[in-house]
Amino acid sequence: MSEHMIEVKNVSKWYGKFNVLKNCSTNISKGEVVVVCGPSGSGKSTFIKTINALEPFQEGQIWVDGVPVHSPKTNLPKLRSRVGMVFQHFELFPHLSVMENLTIAQIKVLHRSKKEAVESGLKYLKRVGLIDHKDKYPGQLSGGQQQRVAIARALTMDPIVMLFDEPTSALDPEMVGEVLDVMVGLAQDGMTMICVTHEMGFAHKVSDRVIFMDDGKILEDCTSEEFFASPELRTPRARDFLSKILSH
Ligand SMILES: Nc1ncnc2c1ncn2[C@@H]1O[C@H](COP(=O)(O)OP(=O)(O)OP(=O)(O)O)[C@@H](O)[C@H]1O
Ligand SMILES: [Mg+2]
Repeated sequence: MSEHMIEVKNVSKWYGKFNVLKNCSTNISKGEVVVVCGPSGSGKSTFIKTINALEPFQEGQIWVDGVPVHSPKTNLPKLRSRVGMVFQHFELFPHLSVMENLTIAQIKVLHRSKKEAVESGLKYLKRVGLIDHKDKYPGQLSGGQQQRVAIARALTMDPIVMLFDEPTSALDPEMVGEVLDVMVGLAQDGMTMICVTHEMGFAHKVSDRVIFMDDGKILEDCTSEEFFASPELRTPRARDFLSKILSH
């Protein structure tokens, strides 16, 4: 058995003729927090979506907790139910209350009883600090609150890994902190996390590793310490990216 929670081996992907991922490889251990960054269009979202098979890929292999994502025999809905994903836009069901948003997949996908689902919903709502909002509808919450509900919803499924795709980039600046705080807490509790983010403060403070992508390739895959403390050792592309993003 593999000691890695996620193994990505020589993955390439094309959209038609466009080669969006080029021979990408990395391994992620249990409990590791990995930040993925890089310029717009470099393939970050596509890369993390291949991990829970939201995007198919034509070459290479991915294993999540030993399950081969590339194998046609793999039960992908089952795999996806174990991989939490939080996007830039919260994608809550607008016609369902917060609590209903938190329980629907637990009941339908995991076949939990309503009572169990509500218990788990309450536990994670508490964790993201929104217990008082359980009966509201998403439209009655701020963007930051909606994103925290989206994180709580993912957690109710007891994921083995959490994937985040720019979870704070659609938020007003004053709400970024409350969402990052929840993510910091998760990281500290040992959740395996892959986060596409340009929040370099978060990356520096919380991540174990940084993957830098450019033009469909993983150009850097190093410890957070190496990425931030030794810019002179980075590729020119990564250095250029860092200098732009840190100058904001
Ligand atoms: N469904 C699709 N069909 C064709 N091309 C696509 C599709 N989705 C993405 N692309 C292209 O693939 C490339 C990588 O897209 P991706 O969304 O993975 O980049 P990204 O690094 O996440 O960018 P951003 O920082 O802007 O979110 C881009 O050039 C994009 O235009
Ligand atoms: Mg993206």
